[in-house]
Amino acid sequence: MDDLKVKYLTQIANASDEAELEAVRLAAVGKKGEVALKMRELGKMTPEQRQVAGPALNALKDEINSALLAKKAALADAALDERLRSEWLDVTLPTRPRGVGSLHPISQASEELTAIFAELGFSVQEGPRVDTDWYNFDALNIPGHHPARAEMDTFYMHRAEGDDRPPHVLRTHTSPVQIRSMEKMGAPLRIICPGGVYRADYDQTHTPMFHQVEGLALDKNISMANLKWVLEEFVKAFFEVDDVELRFRASHFPFTEPSAEVDIRCSWEGGTLKIGEGDDWLEILGSGMVHPKVIAAGGIDPDVYQGFAFGIGIDRLAMLKYGIPDLRAFFESDLRWLRHYGFSCLDVPTLHGGLSR
Ligand code: PHE
Repeated sequence: MDDLKVKYLTQIANASDEAELEAVRLAAVGKKGEVALKMRELGKMTPEQRQVAGPALNALKDEINSALLAKKAALADAALDERLRSEWLDVTLPTRPRGVGSLHPISQASEELTAIFAELGFSVQEGPRVDTDWYNFDALNIPGHHPARAEMDTFYMHRAEGDDRPPHVLRTHTSPVQIRSMEKMGAPLRIICPGGVYRADYDQTHTPMFHQVEGLALDKNISMANLKWVLEEFVKAFFEVDDVELRFRASHFPFTEPSAEVDIRCSWEGGTLKIGEGDDWLEILGSGMVHPKVIAAGGIDPDVYQGFAFGIGIDRLAMLKYGIPDLRAFFESDLRWLRHYGFSCLDVPTLHGGLSR
């Protein structure tokens, strides 16, 4: 019995995995194992022999069983240790580099045009998107009865019951910033104001919210020729080409006299929008010489100062430059669209470094 004990305890100690241990268990204390065979021999023994051998065999069986259990636990511990060693992760390592998002084409276009006008000496001004009807209309020579108010499809803000003052509006253009800038800065003046504007309109080239950049230059001897040069220089720089065909069309705005709308030659063939070719024209801006009444409304003497103003549709510029045919997609927040048309936020557009690279 001592031989059996030494033999199996050694085998158990040496077992290197669970399968080996199971084999030892079957050979030792399994139904047909050596200890079971010894138990069977008890029948042939005398009662005296049995009284000694029985308890001894049971003790041997118990000892082997508990050695098996202990070894099993030790093997499991070792396996866990091994897994912990091999599957170890350094959670303090930096994460994988991920994109930090992308710039919306309108943000990109705004940065680009700001860089261009900055080079031409224009500073950037801002104004509120909810404005009084005085700034949005009256000060711009659009009095209450004027049809231009209806043409603009204005969104009016709600006034409290019983409040008879004229309602605030969602600004229908960036032109109110002309007045605010004149009030704030006086003349001479050279500013642009990029920003969101609102009109109740919705189709392939119109959305209820869109973006304009207002421009205003006031001095003592500014003429329509200066306006034309600035716009041509701007369009060439923005589209990064030597020549772009522009069409100046006589037009009417209450706040400029004379006024011109400017279209750019483009083609819509096959659903893609291309600039500089084709037989179509896309209107991209309104402009003109600032009306004396508007200069006066801004607190400046129109007999001393004159100048030009323009309002360019930023979204239209972005559509043309990046070949995006439907304006509505700009505002649908579809991540796949943004990943496709978005720009790196780390590339700041400059005239010397390249605008849209
Ligand atoms: N505010 C005009 C518009 O939204 C554009 C414009 C601006 C025209 C400045 C002339 C001068 O249509």
